[in-house]
Amino acid sequence: MKKKYKIAILPGDGIGPEVMKEALKIIEVINKRFKTNIITKKYDIGGVAIDKHGVPLPNETISGCTKSNAILLGSVGGEKWKKLPINLQPETGALLKIRKHFNLFINLRPSKLHRKLYKLSPLKKNISSKGFDILCVRELIGGIYFGSPKGTKKNKESKYSFDTEIYSEKEITRISHIAFKLAMKRNRKLVSVDKANVLESSILWRQTVDKISKIYPKVKVSHLYIDNAVMQIINKPYDFDVILCSNLFGDIISDECAAISGSIGILPSASLNENNFGIFEPAGGSAPDIANKNIANPIAQILSLSMLLEHSFNLKNISKIINNSVNKVLLKGYRTFDISDGKKYITTKKMGDIIANLILKGNYENI
Ligand code: IPM
Ligand code: MN
Repeated sequence: MKKKYKIAILPGDGIGPEVMKEALKIIEVINKRFKTNIITKKYDIGGVAIDKHGVPLPNETISGCTKSNAILLGSVGGEKWKKLPINLQPETGALLKIRKHFNLFINLRPSKLHRKLYKLSPLKKNISSKGFDILCVRELIGGIYFGSPKGTKKNKESKYSFDTEIYSEKEITRISHIAFKLAMKRNRKLVSVDKANVLESSILWRQTVDKISKIYPKVKVSHLYIDNAVMQIINKPYDFDVILCSNLFGDIISDECAAISGSIGILPSASLNENNFGIFEPAGGSAPDIANKNIANPIAQILSLSMLLEHSFNLKNISKIINNSVNKVLLKGYRTFDISDGKKYITTKKMGDIIANLILKGNYENI
């Protein structure tokens, strides 16, 4: 019997359901073409779950995910749920909670720009035409997102709010090992980002990364302060290979990397635990302003599926075929609204169809 792979599908809010539909189309053609046995089951998360079940992360969703081999997520959040207390909103009450629940401390966000697709990038031609291939390795369940205390209080003078940036040596060590191991498989260059000229937690971050680097002498390590890092990435993206960041700095840097590669609509992400179980989702948000218009870019969702097949199912060849097909479609000039000139563009559905068709009919060897 063919191995059965179960994916929990969490479309969520905003453009989530639309782009997820296209990823499901890709799963269908993969099963057809490569005779895989990938089965999917949908669960509610985020705002839709609040509306239907009263909570952003229902128990059925958690147990459905637990029974699956991987999770494919769309996006969560929207104006409608912004008035709820912060811990009941889709972002914190669902996304951060599910990341923590499954101990997904590793967040991988690859951003690539093919040299020939330099026009997609808002950077100057002399920079973008060199292309780039950056992997942001972001710590995902620590730092200021989760540190306590956090809250809002009042004293005689004023109301005040606080969050805590906190990292243990253990947390920094485990994410560093992941980043160094990935660097070994790539160009062996690692830049660690911090704010060690100001923050205690960054001083420990830097010392710990240096300590771990001794175990990987072949990897060239350097450290950049966050303010300098965002500048260097814009000026010389082609100089970067792996970037290692805390939760907050990784959030910022990965959006920057997405923007310079063309659009946040094409950046996938993988959030993993030590067993390669995880959530695969576009790095961009739910984009409510463009939801239900059939104009969202499904590529980030499709590439997230590709990361899922690579990391959780070890179906590396199929993952490569998806990536190559997406690249081919872009090289042929097909554009959704976000990466178009604003005049000529194709719909979400059409982009999905074209990629699916190429996967189904393309010529591949050694599969
Ligand atoms: C991301 C998102 C989330 C984050 C939000 C929605 C909580 O911006 O995945 O980058 O900050 O991690
Ligand atoms: Mn973000």
